[in-house]
Amino acid sequence: MRPYIICHMLSSIDGRIEGGVLNEIIPGGEYESTGAKLKGDAWVCGRTTMQLHFAEKKLFASKTSKKAGPRPVHVARRARNYAISIDTHGKLRWADSDIDGDHLICVVSERAPEDYLAMLHAKDISYIVSGKQSVNLTKAVDLLGRYFGIKKLLLEGGGNINGAFLQEGLVDEVSLLVVPGIDGRHDIPTVFDGMNPKLTSAVRLKLTSITRRKKDTLWLRYKVK
Ligand SMILES: NC(=O)c1ccc[n+]([C@@H]2O[C@H](COP(=O)([O-])OP(=O)(O)OC[C@H]3O[C@@H](n4cnc5c(N)ncnc54)[C@H](OP(=O)(O)O)[C@@H]3O)[C@@H](O)[C@H]2O)c1
Repeated sequence: MRPYIICHMLSSIDGRIEGGVLNEIIPGGEYESTGAKLKGDAWVCGRTTMQLHFAEKKLFASKTSKKAGPRPVHVARRARNYAISIDTHGKLRWADSDIDGDHLICVVSERAPEDYLAMLHAKDISYIVSGKQSVNLTKAVDLLGRYFGIKKLLLEGGGNINGAFLQEGLVDEVSLLVVPGIDGRHDIPTVFDGMNPKLTSAVRLKLTSITRRKKDTLWLRYKVK
């Protein structure tokens, strides 16, 4: 049931992904217009990225701290497009049930507080509880396909959530927009982060296309072997 998953990212030539630096160089709208060509019906980001760019600034504070435990999938509504947040502990607060018109689905673990799920329910936000201690991504994407009919999912960072999807064997393609610039700073997130340190060889890819875009930007597409 799981959707086809394409990791779509913007990076400097040294693989760093912090938007503030890259946005100075990338022609406006380039990330979005290449992403649109991939024709996903949903996009997903890790908790940090959602917190930085899309969620409310103030985090959720549970009144009871009672853990939700296993719960059935809550489908607030079916939609044409979805925005998906992967948030282990149920920390993020949301102004609305949509992000730019895409219906929001929050994926949490069983450690999320039950009043967090009640808050999502009251706001007509859909949710999936998957995994006891941490989010079980394999099960979550299967449920996204089964309950929401998602067929093509764009994995849009940051590096840690991308690394976790890749390590679980859940990335089918990589779509990388390489900006003609070097970041070079220490401790800046990269396209794939946090993979098993015992890894002895790189994940192998097959190049499927190279497109030269505006202002010397390269759009590279690979299939994961
Ligand atoms: N250039 C681009 O295309 C692009 C795109 C997106 C983001 N970014 C940048 O990337 C940076 C953030 O990247 P990041 O790597 O620090 O954070 P991230 O990947 O956005 O989020 C990582 C967080 O997701 C949560 N998570 C839930 N389940 C997980 C799992 N199974 N495996 C891993 N993480 C899981 C964890 O937080 P909890 O356990 O607390 O839930 C984890 O710390 C920002 O600077 C952002 O602007 C760039």
